[in-house]
Amino acid sequence: MSGPVATRIDSEKCIGCGLCLAICPDRTISLVGDKAGICGTECISCGHCQAVCPVGAITVPVIAAAMDFSTFQEELHWLPFGDFDLASLVRLMRSRRSCRNFTDQQVSRAMLEDLVRIGTTAPSGTNSQGWTFTILDHREAVISFGNHVAAFFRKLNNLAANPLLRLASRLFAKDRLGSYYRKYYQTIAQGLHEWQEEGRDRLFHGATAVMLVGGRDDASCPAEDALLATQNILLAAHAMGLGTCLIGFAVEAIRHDPALKRHLTIPAGESIFSVIALGHPAEKYQHVCGRKPVAPRYPRLVD
Ligand SMILES: Cc1cc2nc3c(=O)[nH]c(=O)nc-3n(C[C@H](O)[C@H](O)[C@H](O)COP(=O)(O)O)c2cc1C
Repeated sequence: MSGPVATRIDSEKCIGCGLCLAICPDRTISLVGDKAGICGTECISCGHCQAVCPVGAITVPVIAAAMDFSTFQEELHWLPFGDFDLASLVRLMRSRRSCRNFTDQQVSRAMLEDLVRIGTTAPSGTNSQGWTFTILDHREAVISFGNHVAAFFRKLNNLAANPLLRLASRLFAKDRLGSYYRKYYQTIAQGLHEWQEEGRDRLFHGATAVMLVGGRDDASCPAEDALLATQNILLAAHAMGLGTCLIGFAVEAIRHDPALKRHLTIPAGESIFSVIALGHPAEKYQHVCGRKPVAPRYPRLVD
């Protein structure tokens, strides 16, 4: 999001190459004589000018170059276009699978916090970085959250089981309750039974941690930002040796039941877009598998 310009240019160091003005998305910088200078009044603090400067003359104080990861050593040199093993990247992407069997081992805060930092390397609309990360880092907290999600679905199943309410929904609410009843009622009823009677966790699959990725409502694109950060986290978690699974049922419950936001102490003005179950995996695969083939379209454009 644009704000006042915090960028500082050291004119002693500046060699007037102009790379920073060419790369600035806000046209905040221009050449003043043979040196770069601030000419605009707004800046999204993306740091492109700092990253491109060959002599280190530019600082954007609100962003740091190093991210202080604690579980691995970071390489700060920018990776040139094409200078990465694509096969390794795709292998990582294809090897990440939704994990539904976890060991009892807790995930360390160091790992969880590195995952958050990795999440924030994602792009965000107008660089607003309005994402939020809420972490439950032990199994008891995950169970407590699960009980609240279960309470929401118990209420919803009770409503959906009522034929009169389904009829009312068909007439006045685009049949949302009926559609839920047909698609999910049985599975949810079974899941609730197993949770309550057998302690079997069909919601979080026994995960020892949960990360909720949200966004501030005043960010430009809070949902997109949160989901992009989420994908970073899923891939990085695999590289760290952790399993993950997105839990859409928990997102739906939070979206519809304010009691869940209260339980998690999620402040007003913030929405949750993904819930990630996390833990040390108790499963492994032999092969990667494919996806349904898709055919991209190259439309003939019409006026
Ligand atoms: C938005 C979204 C919501 C999901 N919700 C759940 C869920 O509630 N429970 C679950 O076990 N898996 C859930 N998944 C995982 C999908 O079932 C899984 O991604 C899909 O089957 C493909 O398998 P893969 O992730 O192993 O590649 C969800 C995935 C997405 C993208």
